[in-house]
Formats: sequence, structure tokens, C-alpha cells
Amino acid sequence: MKYLIFTYGCQMNYSDTERMQTYLEALGFKQAKAEKDADMIIFNTCSIRQKGEQRVIGKMIDMIKLRKKNKNLIVVITGCMVRKSSSRYSETRDKLFNRTKEIDIALRIEELPKLADLIKELNPKIKLPKIEEETLEDYFNITPNYTSKSQAFIPISTGCDKFCTYCIVPFSRGREKSRPMADILEECEEFVKQGGLEITLLGQTVDSYGLSTFDKQEGTFKHLPKGKTPFVSLLEQIDKLYSKGLRRLRFTSSHPKDISDDLIKAIGKLKTLMPYIHLPVQAGHNDTLKRMNRPYTCEKFLTIIKKLRKTVPGIAISTDFIVGFSGETEEEFQATYDLFKKEEFDFAYFAQYSERKGTFASKNLKDDVPKKVKRERWHLINELLKTIVAKKLEKFVGKTLDVLVEFEEKGLLHGHSEHSKEVQFKGKKSLIGQIVTVKILKADKWVLEGEKI
Ligand code: SAM
Ligand code: SF4
Ligand code: F3S
Repeated sequence: MKYLIFTYGCQMNYSDTERMQTYLEALGFKQAKAEKDADMIIFNTCSIRQKGEQRVIGKMIDMIKLRKKNKNLIVVITGCMVRKSSSRYSETRDKLFNRTKEIDIALRIEELPKLADLIKELNPKIKLPKIEEETLEDYFNITPNYTSKSQAFIPISTGCDKFCTYCIVPFSRGREKSRPMADILEECEEFVKQGGLEITLLGQTVDSYGLSTFDKQEGTFKHLPKGKTPFVSLLEQIDKLYSKGLRRLRFTSSHPKDISDDLIKAIGKLKTLMPYIHLPVQAGHNDTLKRMNRPYTCEKFLTIIKKLRKTVPGIAISTDFIVGFSGETEEEFQATYDLFKKEEFDFAYFAQYSERKGTFASKNLKDDVPKKVKRERWHLINELLKTIVAKKLEKFVGKTLDVLVEFEEKGLLHGHSEHSKEVQFKGKKSLIGQIVTVKILKADKWVLEGEKI
């Protein structure tokens, strides 16, 4: 039996896909090279914007064609579009079964170990091996099949308690829960033992690690020293892996409400922590932030940026903005534009607001910015992004940077610098997975070009 996974959305989904691969291989599945060779096709979905969901539903046309050639094809949808693990024969099924006839299984990713039972519900004749009880308790117990030997994305928490009014994540991923520190450390240690150089810790709001309502009720983090956030304690423990070979530690995303002074100090102090942070602001006007239920002001956000820049000179900062959110006036958009222009972030992800069913905004705030205006605002700010990125990259020309080489494409090696800038240069494929020194010769739109020294 062969499987193929299509992954959409954020790093969290890519990381889940790696765990899914290990699980499927333990069940005896092998990876297919193309759709036509697969007996099971899995869509690991994102529901942050409507377009992403439509893309997956659109792909179902291909499934009709594939099924004509392979009657036993199993189509699975998992990830953020799924609310209830079920098969087409289950008594109560996920609502997705009403949107398309082509799916056989809907799977909540945290219930990954249920996949074997759902496959059997579909076809009782399929024989699958039994998997250890302990692994079945929590899908994080499954050791992932990392795509890269040198870089790993390791989840430290799931879900979100923030309930920003526009966002589907608290509904799709559930309430915020942190993984036990010992489990995360074990995963990090094992990865470094195998030669891993860079770890990126993942969570919707990493800085609230260990502080969610669920974590407090469970009391899992009670033993930690007072005066230090659990996240900083975790970073300090992982940083010790420097002596075993870890060279780079990153995390994403931070939240302006939770980012603490001890975290800012840690970024300046810990050996492995890289001089880069992703800190989504979402809007540059306090009225918009209020409607979004982002519990901070622009002034508070700017104070954090100031502290970060003072503590870690030259730190690279990226952010997220939404344009065209419900009720966004011309003045509010201008304030967002001005904030981005003044602060010159290293990078920013801009999204045009997409109303998501079930969120507070969809029930209470009118999606009243016309599509055309959303598009225009997005283009305006994207033009600004291009100029700022070019200016930021230009500053690296003539400098030498340490680059972790990730892949080769069209004769060029690609990797990222400590500040998370993409760098490309000529070199042998054998350098993939190593940190090399590169002299920067040129800045080209989004990428730095250089030569290995
Ligand atoms: N937890 C992170 C934070 O606090 O900002 C972000 C996680 S979210 C998965 C990634 C980004 O998607 C958000 O920062 C936001 O800009 C964007 N996003 C979320 N909901 C959206 C919506 N309904 N329409 C457009 N963009 C959205
Ligand atoms: Fe969504 Fe807000 Fe949670 Fe980020 S903090 S995942 S934007 S609800
Ligand atoms: Fe999308 Fe889910 Fe990530 S909605 S952005 S894949 S947490």
C-alpha cells in the first residue's frame, strides 16, 4: 500500500505531516512518488482563509479521475478543516462529508492513531499491524520522520486560547495545551544526537508556553522556578545542547501580549538563540486591534520592538498584518501602512481579511471592506514591502554570513543566515546540511547572493 500527503498551511502542519509519515510507515505503508501510484491520498489542510479550503475541495475533481483507475483509493482529509474523526460509514460524520462526496476519512490530527481503525471501518479486509499502546496515547509520542537531517520543527504547544475575532485556529486546533518539557527536551536531544544543527520551536503563541488555562489546571509546570516564564526555562534547557552540537534555536510565533522581558534578555544572552523574531502585530491602529481582540496597543507593541532592538542590536523582525478587516477605515489602513513604513520590519506577511464561519467577527462584525479595496490596500503595502526588504538586504552586501545550507536548485545552493535571510551561492551538493561562511556580493529582490569563502 502506498500513500501520498499534500500539506497546506503553516509549519505546524508540515511538522504534523512528518509524524504522520512515521505512523503510516509503521502501519506498513510506503511513500508514493505520484498521485497515480498512491492507494491513499491525504490532504493535511489549512482553514485560515477561505481560499485554502477551496483549493482542497477543488482537488477532489482529480480524485474522481484517480478513483476510476484505482477503485480502492482511500481519500483522507486531516488538519484544520476537520472537526470530527469519522469515515464515510461512521454514524456521526464530519460536516466535510456534506461538501464533497470524494472523501473516505476525516481525521482530527491529534487523533492520528485512530486512522488505523477508520481504515478498517472502510475496508475490514485490510490487515494492519498493531502499534504500541504508549504511542497511541498522544500523537506527539510518535517520533517524526524529519524531512531534513539538520533542521527540525518541534511543536511545544497546540491550540490557542486568544480568540482573535477573525481567527479560526482556536476552533480548528482547540484550546491551548503545552507539551511536557521533558518530552520536548527528549525530542530535541535525540535530534541533536543524530547530527541536527537547527531547531525551530512551534506554537501559535510560544511565549505563553506552560501558562494556558489547561496547563494551570493540570499543574504540570508548577515545579518551575518563580520569576522566570516556563518558555524561557525551556529555552535555557535546550540551549545547553550547544555542547552536543546544536547551533541554532528559533521559535515561532510570539504574541505581543505574552512576550516577557526575560524572553527578550534570553534572546540577547543564549548562545543558540538566533537574532530573529516573528512578532505578528496584525494592525497599526488601536481601534482595529480592539475589534480584532488583540489585547495590546500600538504603543505597547512599539515599546517591545524598541526593547528587542536595544537588547539585540541588528535583530531581524518580521510580522503579520491583515488588511481589509471588518470596519477598517482609510485612516486605519493608513496607520497600518505608516507603522510598517516607520518600523521597517525585515519581512511581513500580509493577508486580505477572509471571513471564517464560527468566529466572533463572522457573527458580529460585518465583512464590509469591498474585495476591490482589500486588493488595492494589499498591493499598496506589498509595494512598500518590496522597497523595505531590498533596503534591508542591501545592508548585508560585503558582509560574511554563516549559512545553513538547505537545498540545491538550478545549480545553486540555498540556505538561511542567522538573521533568517535567504542566501544563494554556487557550491557542491555535499554542503547541504552544513553551516558554511558566505561572502555576500549582491542583494536580489528577496534573496542575497554570494560566494563561499
Ligand atoms: N498565532 C499567530 C498570531 O498571534 O498572530 C498567528 C497564527 S495564524 C495561523 C497566521 C496568520 O494568519 C495571522 O497572523 C493572521 O495574520 C492571518 N490570519 C488569521 N486569520 C485570518 C483571516 N480570517 N483572514 C486573513 N488572515 C488571517
Ligand atoms: Fe489566531 Fe490570534 Fe490565536 Fe494567533 S493568537 S492563532 S491569530 S487566535
Ligand atoms: Fe492554517 Fe491551521 Fe496553521 S488553519 S495556518 S494550518 S494552524
